[in-house]
Amino acid sequence: MEQIVEWLTLSKHTVVLTGAGMSTESGLADFRSKSGWWQQIDPRTVATTEALTSNYALFQQFYAARIQALEDVKPHDGHFILANWQRRGLIQHIATQNVDGLHTLAGSDNVDELHGSIRSVRCQKCGQAAEMQHFLAKEACPCGGKLRPNVVLFGENLPQEAWNHTLSHMKAAQLVIVIGTSLEVYPVSQLPHMTNGKTVYINLESGQSHFDLTIEGKAGETLKIIDALLKHDTI
Ligand code: OAD
Repeated sequence: MEQIVEWLTLSKHTVVLTGAGMSTESGLADFRSKSGWWQQIDPRTVATTEALTSNYALFQQFYAARIQALEDVKPHDGHFILANWQRRGLIQHIATQNVDGLHTLAGSDNVDELHGSIRSVRCQKCGQAAEMQHFLAKEACPCGGKLRPNVVLFGENLPQEAWNHTLSHMKAAQLVIVIGTSLEVYPVSQLPHMTNGKTVYINLESGQSHFDLTIEGKAGETLKIIDALLKHDTI
């Protein structure tokens, strides 16, 4: 912990990259843990362009359940700590694979949502934005097209602007902190290799050998400890 505090204090350009493990302490399931979504359902049947085209009923049911699961979900202390670090200039950029919007709800600015957002929907055919209630009610777009959340499905490209923006931050970074992701999904899995800065991995399970520092623990709890040490250091 002292090591990351030292690096955070010295670094002039720090980037944070998060995954589903950042949100489990807010009560959302991740994907690949024992209680993760992909233990219950095969991602190929719901989270792909093929599912949207050929298996729409299940696709709609899956994303409706995930949207409804967000109803009472709030950012936890870890999200607020990152937002606070951003305001204090301790971190320069946050990129996330999460589609839940919790970083922004906690007050973080300019978060790059590399896998899109589940909080808004559009028509797959005409691209027009649509009301969430129409998607939840299983309605189609007035043009007849299927409604879908603005998430990135397997088989789709990442939002180009968010990706390029994150990439430039990675290249400039003196410190990259990766939190709560199995790093199993390409191309985000490549981002920690695209920096010359120090790299830190904070995750419940270790298993990533190429980081300069690995902290095994819960995201929120770990960030609280680091934050307390930082305050202690700056007094
Ligand atoms: P995963 O479910 O693959 O990985 C989450 C990681 O977080 C696991 O290694 C957990 O051990 C860890 N974890 C769980 N709770 C934690 C906590 N409280 N603190 C710290 N670590 C914790 O989720 P992602 O890596 O985000 O994409 O998954 C990447 C992408 O795969 C998702 O964006 C989604 C999914 O398929 C699409 O649907 C396109």
